[in-house]
Amino acid sequence: MSDLENPFQETLLQRHRADPCTVVIFGATGDLTNRKLIPAFYNVAACGDLPPQFKVIGFARRDKTDEVFRKELEEGNRKNSRQPHTDELWASFSQGIHYHRSEFEDPAGYVKLKLLLDQFDKERGTPANRLFYLASAPEAFKPILEMLRATGLNHGVGGRWARVVCEKPFGKDLATARGLNQAVAETFEEKDTYRIDHYLGKETAQNIMVLRFANALFEPNWNSKYIDNVQITCAENLGMEGGRGGYYDTAGALRDMVQNHLFQLLSLVAMEPPTDLSADSVRDEKVKVIRALRPLVGPEAVGANVIRAQYTAGSVDGVSRVGYRQEDRVNPESQTEAYVALRLYIDTWRWQGVPFYIRVGKQLPKKATEISVHFKKPPQVPFATGRLPGSSENTLVIRIQPDEGIALRILAKQPGQALSMQQVKMDFRYSSSFGKASPEAYERLLLDAMAGDATLFARRDEVENAWKFIDEIEHAWHQSAAPPPMCEYPAGSWGPKEADDLLRQDGHEWRLL
Ligand SMILES: NC(=O)c1ccc[n+]([C@@H]2O[C@H](COP(=O)([O-])OP(=O)(O)OC[C@H]3O[C@@H](n4cnc5c(N)ncnc54)[C@H](OP(=O)(O)O)[C@@H]3O)[C@@H](O)[C@H]2O)c1
Repeated sequence: MSDLENPFQETLLQRHRADPCTVVIFGATGDLTNRKLIPAFYNVAACGDLPPQFKVIGFARRDKTDEVFRKELEEGNRKNSRQPHTDELWASFSQGIHYHRSEFEDPAGYVKLKLLLDQFDKERGTPANRLFYLASAPEAFKPILEMLRATGLNHGVGGRWARVVCEKPFGKDLATARGLNQAVAETFEEKDTYRIDHYLGKETAQNIMVLRFANALFEPNWNSKYIDNVQITCAENLGMEGGRGGYYDTAGALRDMVQNHLFQLLSLVAMEPPTDLSADSVRDEKVKVIRALRPLVGPEAVGANVIRAQYTAGSVDGVSRVGYRQEDRVNPESQTEAYVALRLYIDTWRWQGVPFYIRVGKQLPKKATEISVHFKKPPQVPFATGRLPGSSENTLVIRIQPDEGIALRILAKQPGQALSMQQVKMDFRYSSSFGKASPEAYERLLLDAMAGDATLFARRDEVENAWKFIDEIEHAWHQSAAPPPMCEYPAGSWGPKEADDLLRQDGHEWRLL
């Protein structure tokens, strides 16, 4: 097969080209727009990838002029831009930013929005594509969608497209996710719907497919015959700073992180090779993984395989931290988990008997997200086992953030007369190998949404199947007669001892980060 006949090669070589476009951000005076979205567009502009005559309309309810809005965003961009902020680029880029004041529920606001969009098209001399970005609380999604439908803004004009991007959280259980999906489906076709999961925009997450399917070295070993267990860790060294407790206490680690980000990583690690790299082929394979998860139903199965916990007072990096229940805006009797560890099995031929351990938590010793693949030991080692170090398995570590990269741990002989062995690390770092920082996830995802590539966005069935699995655990925790206990760990430790016991039962231990 030539390089160009190879679908992986073809897509990787293809540089995304965005069509002319106006982006309407609903909730544009919020933190997400200031910290992530505008800096992402600015960096796309700095790389020369923004379509000509690109415009952003910020939609929110506070009264302000275009000038004031631009000034606020400029301050945010200075702080948050990946590449240096320059006055020259900002001056031209910000000319395309406008502010539109309206309540989400006010029909008159959408009539005026339509007039504004038409006016911009007229000034350009051609209709533009329209991307509606729902950067608002999920309760606002339905009214916004209804209004877009009522004003006909859900249809492109002059042969151009209209698409919607939905921020997380996409529902808080299966019923609400289905309700949202229904509201979206009444307004936009699935092909025009982009559910953001910013983990998928990270370079290393995308690299999982390249690592697995473009290297002859790994794929033949990527199964239960050679892999002993897989661990996915998402550790945060912060708690509920910045008023985050209000939202977090209604969600918890399982809903906030596992249902979306960690299940996406799990799918990429465990999926079968797609037949091509089209959005649907990739997502078909990913959803099969979620559907093949062995269900955890009832308090007994949940208690045996899922550990939930809250942190108590402690210290991280020498700084004292209060316990979860003492955090600002957290219910002092909260039953919400700030940490969760799961043991999962994927019932397919490839993964029969291989445990997938997932853990995510707040106030852990460091901030790090990684996947580690632990290989089985060789069937026979021709060295006295006493000469093997304690940790002697081959481990492939995929670092998602920070310090994106991939490391392979292998055994090597220590120099000298005696035959003693030690684990050594072969390490690839994005920053040193490619000499430049990776684009921010939102840069890639916004460009993809404009270019019509939904591969890195969650599809309706992925979201619903993930919620179906998560709902059973939430049900056992909150609605069963004998719910599994809420465990505890001191802030600054690596989680509750029950999570260590979960792996110890299988003769495993969490990888030391
Ligand atoms: N912030 C993050 O880093 C982050 C990360 C991932 C996902 N998200 C998700 O992104 C979404 C937005 O987050 P955020 O942090 O930017 O929220 P935020 O700071 O609370 O901002 C909310 C925005 O919605 C607007 N708004 C609220 N009610 C409105 C109404 N009735 N009519 C018109 N505008 C209204 C507010 O406008 P006014 O200012 O005019 O009141 C503000 O612009 C959420 O779903 C969140 O979960 C955020």
